Amino acid sequence: MFAPSMIQRRAFSASARQLSKVAVLGAAGGIGQPLSLLLKLNPRVSELALYDIRGAPGVAADVSHVNTKSTVKGYEPTPTGLAEALKGAKVVLIPAGVPRKPGMTRDDLFNTNASIVRDLAKACAESCPDANILIISNPVNSTVPICAEVFKNKGVYNPRRLFGVTTLDVVRASRFVSEIKGTDPADEKITVVGGHSGVTIVPLFSQSRHPELSSNAELVKRVQFGGDEVVKAKDGAGSATLSMAMAGARMADSILRAAEGEKGVIEPTFVDSPLYKDQGIDFFSSNVELGPNGVEKVLPVGPVDAIEEKLLEACFVDLKKNIEKGKAFVAQNP
Ligand code: NAI
Repeated sequence: MFAPSMIQRRAFSASARQLSKVAVLGAAGGIGQPLSLLLKLNPRVSELALYDIRGAPGVAADVSHVNTKSTVKGYEPTPTGLAEALKGAKVVLIPAGVPRKPGMTRDDLFNTNASIVRDLAKACAESCPDANILIISNPVNSTVPICAEVFKNKGVYNPRRLFGVTTLDVVRASRFVSEIKGTDPADEKITVVGGHSGVTIVPLFSQSRHPELSSNAELVKRVQFGGDEVVKAKDGAGSATLSMAMAGARMADSILRAAEGEKGVIEPTFVDSPLYKDQGIDFFSSNVELGPNGVEKVLPVGPVDAIEEKLLEACFVDLKKNIEKGKAFVAQNP
């Protein structure tokens, strides 16, 4: 026989898990499909809601046959489809929008993706204002401020629940360093701060096990422009989808672990950040401690060397413009 307190504890942990509905908006896309599969494999996810303007029911039917416990449902753009997908969601991942083609910067995607993210953010603000919103759609430096402005306009903005997914930048940095050093990437924890495009991506090798790598300009550039390698190799068929799905699934898992009360969960992510607000930069990616309320603590950037200082200066110039562009878009196109 179980003691009553034990039964209570078991009931509590079961109910905490039952509430972990996760929604993917853009679920039938290049990122959306493998991301949905990885989320189906995550035992912390109890319900998976897959929404896209086309093809989500097919992806859902396929993923639903994977023999893990969670339920999976696809939603279409019917008048109530999106709202139903979002209702009760604890985590919403947004990889909806167009990816890059060779020669494009992430900012070139702005015209198409800004309105997609704005409209999806409106739906989230209405249907699941307390959910953790994870923005993957590029340009992240602008789409995260767009989402924030939409939530503010609806009177439901909680800066602790909005995340730009920059996980792929640290995943790449760790892998690239391990290739150079012949080490296990699991041992290469590289801090990457700033934003999520080109020179706004600032790897801080001086804080790693190999501080000398900060003067390796080729490596720094590879981390900043690693996405271009994939865009070029796919030759017009899109950008990173599989590695991105892994990175997005890792971020979602960290959010869920922290929501369940696990301590010490730290991920790099682009959030409403106090770090450089005095310089007019409202959003910044750095290591963030996650908790049941989302952002628990934005960790400081820490010591940087002279080379990284310069990288940060270049980052600030572009990042500020990208953030302002996102805010201005919502002001002009609410
Ligand atoms: P994709 O074109 O393969 O898929 C996008 C999906 O979004 C499509 O299925 C499309 O039907 C759907 N979609 C479009 N408008 C929608 C709407 N209003 N509501 C719901 N779904 C909608 O593109 P992919 O490769 O999956 O990339 C998606 C986004 O992720 C791009 O903006 C890309 O730049 C970005 N990305 C971000 C990364 C990051 O590190 N944060 C890394 C790689 C890509």
